[in-house]
Amino acid sequence: MTLKTYEEELHSFAQPNKAVITHLDLNIDVNFDTHIISGTATYNIANNGASEIILDSKYLDIEAITADGKKTTFTLGSFDENLGQPLAISIKETTQKIAIKYRTTAKTEALQWLNAQQTADKTNPFLFTQGQAILTRTWIPIQDSPQIRITYNATVKVPKNLMAVMSAQNPQEKTADGMYHFKMAQPIPAYLIALAIGDIEYKAISSRTGVYAEKSMIDKVQAEFSDMEKMVVAAENLYGAYSWEQFDVIVLPPSFPFGGMENPRLTFATPTVIAGDKSLTSLVAHELAHSWSGNLVTNATWNDFWLNEGFTVYFEIRIMEALYGKERANMLALIGRQDLDEELESLKETPNDTKLKLDLKGRSPDDGMNSIAYDKGYLFLRTLEEKVGREKMDAFLKSYFKKNAFSTTNTEDFITYLNTNLLEKNSITFNTDEWIYQPGVPSNAAIIQSNAFSTVEKTLQSFVDTNGIDTNITKQWTPQEWVHFIRNFQEDIKIEQLQQLDDTFNFTGSTNSYISMVWYEQSILNNYHGNQVDSKISEFLNTVGRRWYVTTLFKAFKRADRLNEALLIYKKARPNYHAVTANTIDGLLGFGV
Ligand code: BES
Ligand code: ZN
Repeated sequence: MTLKTYEEELHSFAQPNKAVITHLDLNIDVNFDTHIISGTATYNIANNGASEIILDSKYLDIEAITADGKKTTFTLGSFDENLGQPLAISIKETTQKIAIKYRTTAKTEALQWLNAQQTADKTNPFLFTQGQAILTRTWIPIQDSPQIRITYNATVKVPKNLMAVMSAQNPQEKTADGMYHFKMAQPIPAYLIALAIGDIEYKAISSRTGVYAEKSMIDKVQAEFSDMEKMVVAAENLYGAYSWEQFDVIVLPPSFPFGGMENPRLTFATPTVIAGDKSLTSLVAHELAHSWSGNLVTNATWNDFWLNEGFTVYFEIRIMEALYGKERANMLALIGRQDLDEELESLKETPNDTKLKLDLKGRSPDDGMNSIAYDKGYLFLRTLEEKVGREKMDAFLKSYFKKNAFSTTNTEDFITYLNTNLLEKNSITFNTDEWIYQPGVPSNAAIIQSNAFSTVEKTLQSFVDTNGIDTNITKQWTPQEWVHFIRNFQEDIKIEQLQQLDDTFNFTGSTNSYISMVWYEQSILNNYHGNQVDSKISEFLNTVGRRWYVTTLFKAFKRADRLNEALLIYKKARPNYHAVTANTIDGLLGFGV
């Protein structure tokens, strides 16, 4: 077995060139009373003659290990805050299988156990996992490096009234005995192993797409995501056949820390995108796009994270354009451009973090997971597209996905491939190195224009000048236009103006989570307290755990010098958050130090 090797893997203890896992058989029991998962992880391994195999483990109790059925010795190395512990297991040259009996602990960072009150239906508990970037090792002992791919089968035992689903072939109905069997036949990296358990139902959208959600949500979810099959078709038309057979989405309870997570065959999603008008479904296009960029062609290290996310934003916006036209696509691109400018401003003291290729040595991968990878990555690809033309761009991307399918690539390999197959071939010069290895945004960045947003800006300016607003113009605005309007208030906007806008457009009462979030942000920054917005903000922060939303609001409190109010809310809200969100906010607010 030969593995491509890249630069040193900073975020895993595994030494894949010595011995590597190739397949997992997971057999676990999920206990909702003790909040513990226990069972056995059995691996097929490929050994290059090593006398030990090293796995990653964090906050796990390792009980016993066998090699080809016989008890073997193991050691857990010293603990690293980010990485956990290396689990070194003695093997023989001939060893083919190792079986690890283990249980999770209360410290696990991947799992969030929810009580009934934290769900939509409020009658049954819920559990979900979040693996990316390096949390899978907190619920399964594993070689947790994106460079190592495995197939897996799983047997999961859950309470009888609940259904279990994974990033694998899934049931569409509950079983009578609470036993569930799963199979993921395509090799995937550890961060894409995922499990969710709850009182959920399935509804199909097409023969290969569908949704899972709790009973009180399922019809709304099915209606919201009814364009899913069209999205898959559009994606396939762009960059080749969908490799994972089935594409389903599960809508989780509101504490889910991300907008979406691209677990193969089964995207995990926040309920905050169920707006009732399909306005926030670009999230589904995004997670679907990861079926190519990320899941099929995986970043070799977390320093190359932009290869996952930048390509995915580009692909997402192309899918949205195919379904809904250029104007919608440009609005998304322009919102991303504003996010990027704000991120550049916030990282101005650490310019190295604004490079696409990162150096995360000694740091958590989370440190690199910001708008640079997404929106600078997007802007690079969009600029490249405008330079080479769409036809060449698409042929290039299609071949890139095909060449690297079910494998990994890093930034350097990508650049070589780009030079050979797109630039030199067509005698085009491009400042690729500047884009990738220099901070900030190069001067040749594509200029993104949206007529809709120009109108929004004019309308806002005329409101500032006259305190009047023509509701004939705003009548047909989409949530994206409202978001753009609200985010672009001038810094010295007056309380009376905010009050007037709120009374006219009822922003405080908005049912669109994106509008709410940007409106709350402005309310916090500008000390606006009308229409009981403060209690809305606190309610929002107590139910929604989506890290991007929550971080934006706590950052606003901090900028507005309202840290005490923030801490008061946070103390109460924190137990509702997944560890991913809690860790970020702990750092932001200096909580617990
Ligand atoms: N893969 C990411 C989520 C992620 C990033 C998890 C880093 C762990 C570490 C996912 O595809 C994503 O980007 N989600 C976005 C939504 C998207 C529409 C930009 C999110 O969660 O907001
Ligand atoms: Zn993504």
